[in-house]
Amino acid sequence: MKNVLVTGGAGFIGSNFIHYFLRTETDVRLINLDSLTYAGNLDSLQDIANDPRYRFVQGNICDSEQIDAVLREYQIDTIVHFAAESHVDRSILGPRQFIETNVMGTFTLLDATRNYWIRDKAHALDDVRFHHVSTDEVFGSLAPGEPAWTEETPYAPNSPYAASKASSDHLVRSYGHTYGLPYTITNCSNNYGPYQFPEKLIPLTILNALEGKPLPVYGDGQQIRDWLHVEDHCEAIYLVLAKGKTGSTYNIGGENQPANLTIVETICDILDEVNAGAEFTPHRNLIQFVKDRPGHDRRYDMDTHKISTELGWRPRHTLTEGLLDTVQWYLAHPEWVSVVRQRQEYKGWLDANYKSR
Ligand code: NAD
Ligand code: TYD
Repeated sequence: MKNVLVTGGAGFIGSNFIHYFLRTETDVRLINLDSLTYAGNLDSLQDIANDPRYRFVQGNICDSEQIDAVLREYQIDTIVHFAAESHVDRSILGPRQFIETNVMGTFTLLDATRNYWIRDKAHALDDVRFHHVSTDEVFGSLAPGEPAWTEETPYAPNSPYAASKASSDHLVRSYGHTYGLPYTITNCSNNYGPYQFPEKLIPLTILNALEGKPLPVYGDGQQIRDWLHVEDHCEAIYLVLAKGKTGSTYNIGGENQPANLTIVETICDILDEVNAGAEFTPHRNLIQFVKDRPGHDRRYDMDTHKISTELGWRPRHTLTEGLLDTVQWYLAHPEWVSVVRQRQEYKGWLDANYKSR
């Protein structure tokens, strides 16, 4: 790992990964290629913007010429591919962009990489890796009592987002099988933590609660996600890059499975304590049940036996500590929050998704 290309590094997990990676590896060059969609935010990387090991390139993974030029200019030997459209509700309201970015973008990146590493033999194949960051949502939805998903579970994606990620996983695997592209894939459960764009459940709940706005809970709120702190995800990706077997996939999950309603209630209780005396205490009074998401997956659960036995990974954060840290992070970063909140794009999204619910 000498010259690392991170795609989507201005997003939630990508920016956390860049921080993690630069703390962990000293002798590297890291190129962050991001097109800066509504979800991209360079404020999340301000502290390392002038680090000599780091370079930002504004670019689109669908632009094959630009990708080709970046691979060659920086002699990229390692790719960590985060760039994607990542929000299920947006994929329901507008699926096309998900196909463009997640399917065509991943294809474009894979093909440029194949040309550079395999056709043009830019590096020895033992020295390169294409790591694809994917999701547990490719596996569909579990009924009560069904066992957790393993790496062998067949894909059954339900939302346009999940289907586009499943397609991208298949493309990565096919480039390994057909052309010998050295790859790894991780499928991870729902992340939470610093720098998450407040359209996702946890930051949306925190920020709405601080303003005394309704806390929307879809349907009966009994859907279950396998929440994982983003730093634990970053550590798992790092371990897979460093020690994972080429051509393998690894499941990553949080071993935390309370229902959505419990997550929202826990955040309310944390705010009652850390923000005692706030006008909106008790914050649970702000909870509002709203119309369910169409096709809403009921339960996710990842079996993480493989990554824990092969690579020794386990999540370090408990959900209780992780949620408290996350609430405190949002309270401690009002500038980051206010810039994101003031963007017209964000306000427009809240109207589009919640007004008619
Ligand atoms: P995010 O939406 O916060 O960030 C995505 C980033 O990709 C943004 O910076 C955006 O500007 C960039 N991007 C989008 N389209 C692009 C394009 N065409 N070219 C270049 N850059 C582009 O997403 P996230 O939550 O950080 O997720 C990162 C990855 O992890 C995604 O692939 C997602 O599917 C996967 N994942 C996310 C979660 C989660 O809970 N958030 C869980 C498992 C896997
Ligand atoms: P989300 O954070 O959008 O992640 P994902 O859809 O990828 O799991 O949603 C997490 C869960 O919270 C999901 O079951 C949908 C639910 N949810 C709500 O109940 N209300 C909301 O306003 C949002 C955004 C999500």
